[in-house]
Amino acid sequence: MSGPVAAENFGKVAVLMGGRAAEREVSLKSGQAVLQALRSRGVDAHRVDPAAMALEVLRAGGYDRAFIALHGCGGEDGVIQGALETIGLPYTGSGVLASALGMDKRRCKLLWQGAGLPTPAFRVVASEQQLAEACQVLDLPLMVKPAREGSSIGITKLIAPEDLTAAWRAAEAQGYEVIAEQFIQGAEYTAAILGEEALPLIRLETPRTFYDYEAKYRTDTTRYICPCGLSRADEAALQDLALAAFQAIDARGWGRVDFMCDGAGRPWLLEVNTVPGMTDHSLVPMAARARGIDFAELVLRILQETLPQ
Ligand SMILES: Nc1ncnc2c1ncn2[C@@H]1O[C@H](COP(=O)(O)OP(=O)(O)O)[C@@H](O)[C@H]1O
Ligand SMILES: [Mg+2]
Repeated sequence: MSGPVAAENFGKVAVLMGGRAAEREVSLKSGQAVLQALRSRGVDAHRVDPAAMALEVLRAGGYDRAFIALHGCGGEDGVIQGALETIGLPYTGSGVLASALGMDKRRCKLLWQGAGLPTPAFRVVASEQQLAEACQVLDLPLMVKPAREGSSIGITKLIAPEDLTAAWRAAEAQGYEVIAEQFIQGAEYTAAILGEEALPLIRLETPRTFYDYEAKYRTDTTRYICPCGLSRADEAALQDLALAAFQAIDARGWGRVDFMCDGAGRPWLLEVNTVPGMTDHSLVPMAARARGIDFAELVLRILQETLPQ
């Protein structure tokens, strides 16, 4: 990474936040934190909410670049990225392809499987009946997930057959494809990626059944452990894996790779987040701090990638 860039070089910056996805509220928090950080460093940054006509605003507003702080569909899935490409506005993070793949757990997992990267076995299930069949092929417990959602919305750990209907309905209600994935018993980690580097891993521990919406945003019982407690060599191997998983889908700039390690210490990739949470208590900022990079510096480094190289 090159040295610090003067604030004026960024020109007028749109911080895209809000949007229409289920994660709108989280996005508003991320965007607000990013906006404050940029302004604290003297950058001419403005809030733009694409729930209300972003393209017209961006085109007419004389913006030079956009920091995308949108989570979920419409903002993290390639749609806004494609729109920004068409109006020629540079933006932070991954391009259209990686954003779309990162949002689609089914196709991301297929790609990883094709690339020989480890991800838990899964089935696409199009009905409750197919979910019942998946339970025969893959043993319980299973994680039943909407293929395109975030923040653990619509996800159930299906432990007992009698909960099958509820698990199916919760996932299907999100309106996307549903996958049923082998549950991995073990430790959960997340790897923040900045540029070409995986930052120190964070281990997540929750007394809840899994790291669900409650554990992510509401309770204070979730533990975030960083340094994660692994040996330097083990951590480095997992960082390499996370970076490979990130780059396999052509993701760029910044993001986060979620994975589990089973009882034998084997890693299993869960998903890539191409626009992870960016409030100052989010995971990427936490990992950056462990690497000696404060929040404002992190935001600037992410934005810096939109400058001509
Ligand atoms: N196969 C799995 N085995 C064990 N836990 C899982 C598995 N898949 C997901 N989880 C748990 O569910 C959480 C959310 O799943 P994830 O695939 O990361 O979706 P989201 O996009 O909602 O974050 C994970 O952080 C983890 O705690
Ligand atoms: Mg996740």
